[in-house]
Amino acid sequence: MERLQKVIAEAGIASRRKAEDLITSGKVKVNGEIVTELGTKVSRKDRIEVNNKPIEKQQKEYYLLNKPRGVVTTTKDEHHRKTVVDLIPTNTRIYPVGRLDYDTTGALLLTNDGEFANILMHPNDKVEKVYMAKLNGIIKGEQINQLKDGVEIDGQTVQAARVKLKKVNDKNNTCMVQITIHEGKNHQVKKMFESVGFQVEKLKREKVAFFDLKDLQSGEYRKLTPKEVAKVYALEQK
Ligand code: URA
Repeated sequence: MERLQKVIAEAGIASRRKAEDLITSGKVKVNGEIVTELGTKVSRKDRIEVNNKPIEKQQKEYYLLNKPRGVVTTTKDEHHRKTVVDLIPTNTRIYPVGRLDYDTTGALLLTNDGEFANILMHPNDKVEKVYMAKLNGIIKGEQINQLKDGVEIDGQTVQAARVKLKKVNDKNNTCMVQITIHEGKNHQVKKMFESVGFQVEKLKREKVAFFDLKDLQSGEYRKLTPKEVAKVYALEQK
């Protein structure tokens, strides 16, 4: 659900401020009824009219990117570094759904659909994020259990839904661990491993919700199918 004034502004009819004036002066109808309350929430299924004319909803776009290293997850970088949005040629103002660090690679969704982004970013048991981490040491069963039982980062307890040791390299004293989490706190995976004594040397997100990197090389992207978009809407917790 999105705020009515935002939807009107995004349709290109008026600025956000002007959209608010249109609402308070009774020029806006939702499903045939005049709505004057600012902040009324509407969904993409609602029929919105301004001055008795239905608004043209902004064309929604949805992408899955295999983010390479050395790219910032933002729409504009003050240090003029390359951003994830620069990798996708479109005239629409898309933005990333959540964040991957500058040196993290892997699955990242981008869209101009705020409702879609909210569903994926809101803590939801059905939205898993699966990461592969290379650690500067070899993790023990006891530390894996600590991650699953809950560790404290930034004063909050977070749990890994699953942790699997995938590969051990005795010679280099490193290992590869797959970790699945539900939240998306800042630097969460790195901080979780730090809390049990490891530095993450490399981090890749293999999957977010049901989107994996099948057929996408680093730096490549694809559009989501309407079916995939509908499947994300079906994840919404009532
Ligand atoms: N956790 C991290 O520490 N970094 C990321 O980029 C994503 C999750």
